[in-house]
Amino acid sequence: MRLIFLGPPGAGKGTQAKAISKKFKVVHISTGDILREAVKNKSEIGKQAKAFMDKGDLVPDELVIKVVVERLARPDTAEGFILDGFPRTEKQATSLDSELEKAGLTVDSVIYFDTSEETSVKRLSGRRVCKNCGANYHTITMRPKKDRVCDICAGELYQREDDKEVTVKNRLKVYQQQTAGLIDYYKSRGSLKTVCGDLNVDGLLNKMVEFFKEQSFIR
Ligand code: AP5
Repeated sequence: MRLIFLGPPGAGKGTQAKAISKKFKVVHISTGDILREAVKNKSEIGKQAKAFMDKGDLVPDELVIKVVVERLARPDTAEGFILDGFPRTEKQATSLDSELEKAGLTVDSVIYFDTSEETSVKRLSGRRVCKNCGANYHTITMRPKKDRVCDICAGELYQREDDKEVTVKNRLKVYQQQTAGLIDYYKSRGSLKTVCGDLNVDGLLNKMVEFFKEQSFIR
């Protein structure tokens, strides 16, 4: 199963990608997670990406494409993958097409999380992330058992710097200007499947599993 998850910030792409990756044993590739890890480790890529990420702007195409091409070359992607947050520009989409073509592969489906701006803002403002294992929580919809403590590893929960109000506004604007055009790009190729991103976590997961069965991606 080779999938792309497309949608605005806060649509729930990462949450669903983690669940599907665990359930069906396909690799979850989140460019946001890879870049955040690079920033944390102060690697060369991280140093170049940080200023863009802090403002909520897109990291330059060349850098992100390089990261993804290297990641897709690893053997664990042989059974499939979920690309979460990539591609985000037409240049990234065409580069991905040509990389996959070289390997004789195609993407099975692009899942578009059609999500209202109101939902995105509510989800991002309440998101909390574990400093240690990266698990996601929400102050209202996905609360940890103990305040500010991760259920999985007892790590401390924090608010992502780019989830603060001003940066969220810019991320939503950048999404409309640079990424939303990919909906038509994939629609015209017949690979787009739209799901309602406003559904709750389980409702959304069930819709996707139903779709994967219909398409025989899974049995
Ligand atoms: P990235 O990390 O990819 O951010 P994003 O696309 O803005 O996506 P988010 O992680 O904010 O949201 P999500 O849809 O995954 O929602 P989540 O499941 O976490 O990118 C960060 C930055 O990196 C970018 O701004 C850019 O600078 C750079 N970057 C990354 N990729 C790039 C690329 N390809 N090109 C250039 N630059 C790139 O859920 C959000 C919250 O809602 C959580 O609290 C969760 O618990 C809750 N929640 C989730 N689903 C539901 C639900 N169904 N119901 C109720 N609550 C829910």
